[in-house]
Amino acid sequence: MSDALAYARDHASRFRDELFEFLRIPSVSARSEHDGDTRAAAEWLAARMAAAGLESEVLDTPGHPVVLGEWRGAGDDAPTVLIYGHYDVQPPEPLELWTSPPFEPTVRDGRIYARGSADDKGQLHMHVKALESWLASTGSLPVNVVMVAEGEEEIGSPSLVPFVEARAERLACDAVVISDSAMFDEGLPSLLFSLRGLAYVEVHVRAAKGDLHSGAYGGAVANPATVLARMIATLHDDQGRIAVPGFYDRVKEWDAETRDAIRALPFDEERFRSGVGAPGLTGEAGYSTLERLWIRPTCEINGLLSGYTGEGAKTVLPAEAMAKISFRLVPDQDPKRVARLLEDHLRSVAPPSVTLEVRELHGGNPWRADPGGPLFEAAGRALEAAFGAEPVLVGEGGSIPIVGDFERILEAPALLVGFALPGCNMHAPDEWFTLDNYDRGIGALVRLYEELGTTLR
Ligand code: BES
Ligand code: ZN
Repeated sequence: MSDALAYARDHASRFRDELFEFLRIPSVSARSEHDGDTRAAAEWLAARMAAAGLESEVLDTPGHPVVLGEWRGAGDDAPTVLIYGHYDVQPPEPLELWTSPPFEPTVRDGRIYARGSADDKGQLHMHVKALESWLASTGSLPVNVVMVAEGEEEIGSPSLVPFVEARAERLACDAVVISDSAMFDEGLPSLLFSLRGLAYVEVHVRAAKGDLHSGAYGGAVANPATVLARMIATLHDDQGRIAVPGFYDRVKEWDAETRDAIRALPFDEERFRSGVGAPGLTGEAGYSTLERLWIRPTCEINGLLSGYTGEGAKTVLPAEAMAKISFRLVPDQDPKRVARLLEDHLRSVAPPSVTLEVRELHGGNPWRADPGGPLFEAAGRALEAAFGAEPVLVGEGGSIPIVGDFERILEAPALLVGFALPGCNMHAPDEWFTLDNYDRGIGALVRLYEELGTTLR
């Protein structure tokens, strides 16, 4: 292993140069005008996997391609690790809020600023470099590896479940390792015990067949903006709980042990508040901030559109109003069921003066780990050696839709070990990832493969 670690140290500056090449490709999965770039990122990645010593291919799906890499030289007796990540990124807009352009990686104060630096190209690339470090320095790896990098994670992974189901045998593994999350704090490595799921819907409220004069018609014809606002106002009660009937039916209460562990984390509420820049925090009554973020479900309005929003005043009665509404889910909630409950609820509160259209956009299952046990202990040793601190167990409010599906289809546990830092602006302008975590994280992954080679056997 010391050879692999030495190789990673000796080649650190080339690794970074390569990462910068990867980050320059605008692989925005949500935008069809970037389809060529998204494919280019897949091809770039497949070539880097091949250079690292894996057999790699770019496999077509109905959407963006999946890059598959394999190295099976450890033999049938050795464990197999599936490494998952995503090479697609979120749209970079609003561009004017970036200090340096999103697809021109720039280093300031030890941070790489670029779209995808943290989520997830930077972290995915670390795995490729850790594998290369083993293979180039020793000609071998402590585990067999199959790497799956998708290009649709940021749009809900629509093609990946069928992809995994169709190749369950080829993807068979003893554990799934994913680096697409964050550490609890700088210098404090972290392992995830949960991810929230997601149900995302778009709602249209319509009244008249076109926009109308608000004086000539207002008062007698429904205003879809007002109606939609009233409907949205029914989604929460005054305790911050979700008021959609049936919503909590399948929510499992978390055990006292996990809640105690969350309380024991060194969380600085005031630092969190000032970091987001809001005058105060809020949420469901009876739960702490970390509990609200990790172990409780939420309902958010992600977008709202109606009427005239340009300069000055326009007396218009809008014909339509639209909202994008999403729920973050916890075990054992089901995204499809939640979308249906929302539709039923909205239909029950919508007045007969409007029509309602509810479109389900995408969803993902929540995930909860069984922490402790040899897999977490192995990861703990690798992280402690690389970061000089024992890792903490943390939850995550965001979603990685495929994680639960991997566990179900492949019958192997998932290990989520992320290296981004709080405040790293995933999905926002000025996304960043530290050079230090990039370098140290590669070392941690080199060690992790070794630990898994002995632990999973
Ligand atoms: N890397 C994130 C998940 C994440 C977010 C981990 C924040 C740690 C902190 C992932 O790429 C992501 O953003 N997922 C989407 C999934 C959705 C589009 C289905 C999310 O959570 O919104
Ligand atoms: Zn991500």
